[in-house]
Amino acid sequence: MSLLKLENVVRRYGDDNNAVYALDGVSLEIEPKEIVIILGSSGSGKSTLLNILGGIDVMSSGKFVFMNKEMKSKKSKDLLMYRRENIGFVFQFYNLIAELTVRENIKVVAEYCESPLDIDDVMTTLGIADLAERFPNQLSGGQQQRVAIARAVIKNPKLLLCDELTGALDSKSSGDVLKFIEKINAEYNTTIIIITHNNEIAKMGDRIIKIHDGKIISNDINTAKVSASELEL
Ligand SMILES: Nc1ncnc2c1ncn2[C@@H]1O[C@H](COP(=O)(O)OP(=O)(O)O)[C@@H](O)[C@H]1O
Ligand SMILES: [Mg+2]
Repeated sequence: MSLLKLENVVRRYGDDNNAVYALDGVSLEIEPKEIVIILGSSGSGKSTLLNILGGIDVMSSGKFVFMNKEMKSKKSKDLLMYRRENIGFVFQFYNLIAELTVRENIKVVAEYCESPLDIDDVMTTLGIADLAERFPNQLSGGQQQRVAIARAVIKNPKLLLCDELTGALDSKSSGDVLKFIEKINAEYNTTIIIITHNNEIAKMGDRIIKIHDGKIISNDINTAKVSASELEL
């Protein structure tokens, strides 16, 4: 059984006379535990696609099936529940709470989860256990992004969605963060979708989906997968 499936998904902005199709008939299927890379240039529709998968945007038409259940409703409450139960988001900017320590930043998210992972375990997995009592402004960009990943995975989401997560990082920190993304995938069996315009990052995916002008132009299993530590960023 696939984890999720999109069929002919359209996301349209504007009215009939000046419509913009951010997504123009997207169909895809993602298997549990895959690391999926969505590759495309700026404006190709990557964020729109990720936001629909994450329940923070709504498709104009098409079909979205998650774990064999069709996501029919456009009601924000249903999407909120879906998002709460299943989705972790990581963005280019870390969105940490400046007044809280690393541990507290993770804890505030854990507190509203039904069955969160163990905070110390997640901090250890992400290599930030030693930083638990620091505040965000006492951390490097890469360390802050690892805390942001911890906040996203503490609820043990089925799907971790990463929008240009290394976009603000230097190459060494980018490599580090991607190594930890790989570790999350292995340790917690999390399905991961990474969107990027960086061809090198794509090499670590199990599947590479290329998008252009709101359309998928290729979708292939990556037979030459390399580990994040081997990327030349
Ligand atoms: N709120 C919006 N109103 C109108 N057009 C939008 C809006 N959001 C995105 N778009 C358009 O949809 C297309 C895809 O955007 P986006 O998904 O953000 O691309 P990417 O993440 O690949 O850079 C772009 O042409 C963009 O201008
Ligand atoms: Mg984007």
